Amino acid sequence: MNKKTVRDIDVRGKRVLVRVDFNVPLDAERNITDDRRIVAALPTIKYLIEQGAKVILMSHLGRPKHDDTGKADAESVKKYNLDPVAKRLSELIGKPVKKLDDCIGEEVKKAVEAMSDGDVVLLENVRFYKAEEKNDPEFARQLASLGEVYVNDAFGTAHRAHASTEGVAHILPGVAGFLMEKELDYLGKALENPDRPFVAVLGGVKVSDKIKVIDNLLNKVDALLIGGAMTYTFLKAQGYSVGNSMVDVDGLALANQALQKAKERGVELMLPIDTVAVELPADFDIPSGVPADVNIQIVPSTAIPDGYRGLDIGPETVKQYGEKIKSARTVVWNGPMGVFEDPRFAKGTLGIAQAMAECQGTTIVGGGDSAAAVEQLGYADKIDHVSTGGGASLEFLEGKELPGVAILQDK
Ligand code: 3PG
Repeated sequence: MNKKTVRDIDVRGKRVLVRVDFNVPLDAERNITDDRRIVAALPTIKYLIEQGAKVILMSHLGRPKHDDTGKADAESVKKYNLDPVAKRLSELIGKPVKKLDDCIGEEVKKAVEAMSDGDVVLLENVRFYKAEEKNDPEFARQLASLGEVYVNDAFGTAHRAHASTEGVAHILPGVAGFLMEKELDYLGKALENPDRPFVAVLGGVKVSDKIKVIDNLLNKVDALLIGGAMTYTFLKAQGYSVGNSMVDVDGLALANQALQKAKERGVELMLPIDTVAVELPADFDIPSGVPADVNIQIVPSTAIPDGYRGLDIGPETVKQYGEKIKSARTVVWNGPMGVFEDPRFAKGTLGIAQAMAECQGTTIVGGGDSAAAVEQLGYADKIDHVSTGGGASLEFLEGKELPGVAILQDK
């Protein structure tokens, strides 16, 4: 990575304003159900404490709604305040974390001035101000006034040009934290200088949502393995009948373009050879749960029967994709292979996770649903890098420059 990191600057005794991505999932009682993003930020936080910095953390949580004054409404404040995050962070670092009630203003300034070296405070959700997402320069100035240097460790939000991710770095010298560095090193090396064979596994619902990733990866990989619902758009585009499977009409032409590009570039674009198909109407709402007594068949992907809908890759595909993954020296995976939340349709995703775990090469899971899947299926520890970014890792794989990274100081 060509950006400066916390290692390259002197932080001793300084007020260090750190953007983290503590946008973690919470249940109805506001218990954190997955603290991976907090744990992932610990190396930077601990390093800064050890260096005797005054650590001022800021994050967003959720997507609060605002009233006419541009401030979060009462319901959003209740739902999206960072109290549970401060509590969890304090447990993880074994020292108190003072959660402030705001992220700008006189009270916040006073609290920051009262900090001693090695103290940690967490500002309230920066998205409690509409100005955050607008990247309002005055709001950025107020945030920046709290620190002397700025560290961005929020890879998960680096694709947003917001005040706390981009705006402050116009005012304070900005460097990357260790999580940001790790994310960019893993994903960057895979895209720029991968050990080969380089295999990408891509799931997802719509070809049109993933086409930019597909297009960019076709410039880089030796093989691209397709799974998830977008499989059926690829199959349909080639003239096969897909029964009631989901087809993204806008994606048909794009799928053909991708197939053509793969051919031209000599990239092996693989589609599932078999499919777990379920007798369901085309408009059945999958998230509401597939009925227990439904008919399930494993069929060749090119012959999905009428009235049936594909919900996972089949066992032959798992075997074939598994071999490809295990013989690769770099693997990047984004997007589940099927409806993995239902154990009947999780075998494809599980099989890919297993093959990734057995692969001797560098294995990277690119955030979002696939990261949740490897976590849930118990394979996260066996993967070299599970990204904390959903949208951010996708944009990175699309080849876009992330605004929260671009603004940081070069080495
Ligand atoms: C994420 O969860 O992907 C990041 O925290 C960004 O959140 P956002 O999509 O609400 O900007």
